[in-house]
Order: sequence, then structure tokens, then C-alpha cells
Amino acid sequence: MSEHKQRQIIVLKNPAALAEEAASRFVKLACAAVEANGRFSVALSGGSTPRAMHERLAQPPHKNALDWKKVHVFWGDERFVPPDDPESNFSMARETLLKHVPIPAQNIYPAPTEGIAPEEAARQYAETLKAFFAPGTPRLDLILLGLGLDGHTASLFPGRPQVQASGDSLIAAVKNSPKPPPVRITFTLKLINNAANVIFLAAGKEKAAAVKLVLGETVDVITRPAQGVRLVDGKLLWLLDSAAARELQLS
Ligand code: 6PG
Repeated sequence: MSEHKQRQIIVLKNPAALAEEAASRFVKLACAAVEANGRFSVALSGGSTPRAMHERLAQPPHKNALDWKKVHVFWGDERFVPPDDPESNFSMARETLLKHVPIPAQNIYPAPTEGIAPEEAARQYAETLKAFFAPGTPRLDLILLGLGLDGHTASLFPGRPQVQASGDSLIAAVKNSPKPPPVRITFTLKLINNAANVIFLAAGKEKAAAVKLVLGETVDVITRPAQGVRLVDGKLLWLLDSAAARELQLS
């Protein structure tokens, strides 16, 4: 089976078109999951790229196109800052999306980031996911991911032990992150790769080199953790704008 059998790459002309495409696919996957299973589980990405997609989802037509009471939101990684800190991925999602849509508070599962050690936060968040998905291994309907200039994704950074997290670990604690803030927790590749759908969002010419490396044939997961996203039984989609895709030779 081709390594890339379940990988699709779509290039949009600009960041606005990328945000619209991502929002449309979010809604389509959500409606399909609610139709099939009565609920939609999604892990949002951190960073700045998803902001525009969130803002599209928070407005008609997308806002009114799904039953937010059936949507359950997690985070693929979180920085160890207070939930109302501008650096918090939860805070960004709340400001750009969650406070604008009728999603019940109990459907929002922020990672714990206050008053406990990151290792304990990772353990607790893993328990939250296991309880939600019991009795099976957590399999999110959708995980959204960004791409760092160094090939990181979520808070899985090159050369760091979390990239090869052992055994069944679902969530890992990160210290001395090369991208501030320094302390984080992150989904592991085991958890990411068990998802039904993963969508990477990357925009801007500064991402072009990382996109070319990560989508290239030479695979080195340790130095390019985003290459470790290879779904066990799911669909992987890369949504790029033309600037981020400019170094790709797409047939
Ligand atoms: C984080 C993110 C991180 C991000 C990439 C891209 O918490 O920092 O999860 O993996 O997605 O660094 O960030 P930008 O979208 O800001 O370029």
C-alpha cells in the first residue's frame, strides 16, 4: 500500500480561501459524524493559522450548518499558561470561535494548565480522553494540526523525546519547548495517528521550506515530527495556500 494512499494535498490561492476550505471541511466532517454517531469530537490546533478558520466557523453559513450541542472540543496541545492568557490555545479558540457559537460549556475540554505539574496535567488529560472515548482507544473524528518552520506539529518538536513517546501514552508533557511558552502538553503521535481525520493547515511563504521537507520522500520523524503523522485508519489532508506550497512539485 502506498505510503501516501490516504494523504491528500489541496492548495488554495490565499489564506482566506484556505480558511474557508478548512471551515467547510470541518462542517462536513462534523455533520457526517453527528449523522453516524450522534456526536463530533475535534481537537483544535494552537498557533495563529487556525484563527481565520475559527472566525469563518463563527459566522453564517458555517455557524448555522451544524448542531453545536453535538460538538465536543479538545486541544491537540496547550501551553502551560492561565486559560485567559493570550498565549493560551484555549483562549484563542474561545475568543475566535467558542464564545460565538451555541456549544455547551460541558462540551469544551481544555487541558488543565494551572496548579499542577505538566506531567500530572498530561496524565489527567489522557484520562479525560479515555473516559470520553471509553471503552476503546481515543479516536477523534478530526484533529487539526499546524506546521512549525522546524517541522514540528502540535508540541512535538525535533529531537525531543515526546516524538517517540513510548507505549500507549496519549498525552506528553513538554519542557524547554524551542517555541515559547516553554512548558506544554501535547497529543502524542499514537493519539494523533488513531484519528479518523487529520487536517494540517499551513499558510505563508515562510512555511514553504518546511512543507517541502515534510511532504518529501525522505522521512525522518525525529527531525521532522510532522512526518510522524501517518494515520492507522484515517484520512490525512494537507490544506496549503499557494505561498506555502510554492516549493512543491505537485503532479
Ligand atoms: C502551538 C501549536 C504549534 C503551531 C505551529 C504553527 O501551540 O504552538 O500547536 O504546533 O501549530 O507552531 O504555528 P502558526 O500557525 O502560528 O504558524
